Amino acid sequence: MRIAIIGADGQLGSDLLKTLRKDEVLPLYYPDFDITQARKTSEILRHLRPDIVINTAAYHWVDDCEDNPRESFLVNSIAVRDLALTARELGAVLVHFSTDYVFDGRKRSPYVEEDPPHPLNVYAVSKLAGEFFVRALSERYFLIRTCGLYGEVSSPERGLNFVDRVISLDREGKPLRIVNDQWVTPTASAELAEKTSQLIRTSHFGLYHLTNEGECTWYQFAREIFSLLVKEPRLEGVDSRTFAARARRPLYSVLDNKRARDIGLSPFSPWREAVSSYLRKKGYLT
Ligand SMILES: NC(=O)c1ccc[n+]([C@@H]2O[C@H](COP(=O)([O-])OP(=O)(O)OC[C@H]3O[C@@H](n4cnc5c(N)ncnc54)[C@H](OP(=O)(O)O)[C@@H]3O)[C@@H](O)[C@H]2O)c1
Repeated sequence: MRIAIIGADGQLGSDLLKTLRKDEVLPLYYPDFDITQARKTSEILRHLRPDIVINTAAYHWVDDCEDNPRESFLVNSIAVRDLALTARELGAVLVHFSTDYVFDGRKRSPYVEEDPPHPLNVYAVSKLAGEFFVRALSERYFLIRTCGLYGEVSSPERGLNFVDRVISLDREGKPLRIVNDQWVTPTASAELAEKTSQLIRTSHFGLYHLTNEGECTWYQFAREIFSLLVKEPRLEGVDSRTFAARARRPLYSVLDNKRARDIGLSPFSPWREAVSSYLRKKGYLT
């Protein structure tokens, strides 16, 4: 299969590139391939004629999105509409990623695909609008919501994911104050890439929740990282209100991979196992 990967050097994009190496992969990199440049994007895709277009690009700096709603909507909604139209014209399957933040967190038990979304911030509203464009315009699509991604390409130059950030702050001797009232499922982008690869070989199109198994707060996630590293840093669990972040976030955004189970996709590993494997791959653990 000819598979175009948009954002191919991002966390998820680079893991997809590795996972799909036996396919004919067409990696597309920002800024040469910028999804907000609709005409150019469409021309390039028409030239490449992929069977599948995978979009991992997003404007996902959640607090910045509050200050830049226009940019959020251009990348996360309008550009997704344009991609959906191009994919449809080419007869290609569209694979698009969305977020756990489409939910408001009031449910307090894992969200299934049928639960009604209720986003709390600009980022989440723009991602949900992107979802609606995919669902309204695509004939064949996989719309995948995920949560708390961390991938191996994270670096000081590209920006650090949560795992690398807490390790780096600890190495600098900084005290760590981490929210202990937001529940998520940390998800390894390597594993998400594997499941995505399985899913796109089926014809079970539609909306999916795909995350590692289990749940924790960001503070518990950090504690597990240091426990695996056999370290005892200065770690304090705090209330979300301590940081007065610009964007409101759900206090509970754990997703249930219900549809994936229903179609027989192999289960994700528990989040603790996934983070342990990440620490080993990144050379933190031997
Ligand atoms: N990260 C999370 O915790 C999380 C949680 C839930 C859902 N998601 C969703 O998962 C998906 C993948 O996230 P990720 O963590 O892999 O993101 P990422 O590491 O930031 O990768 C995104 C990639 O898209 C590129 N890109 C940015 N703007 C672009 C544009 N206008 N046109 C084309 N490419 C562009 C980026 O290039 P540059 O690096 O050069 O900017 C990067 O290569 C996103 O849809 C995100 O909303 C992420």
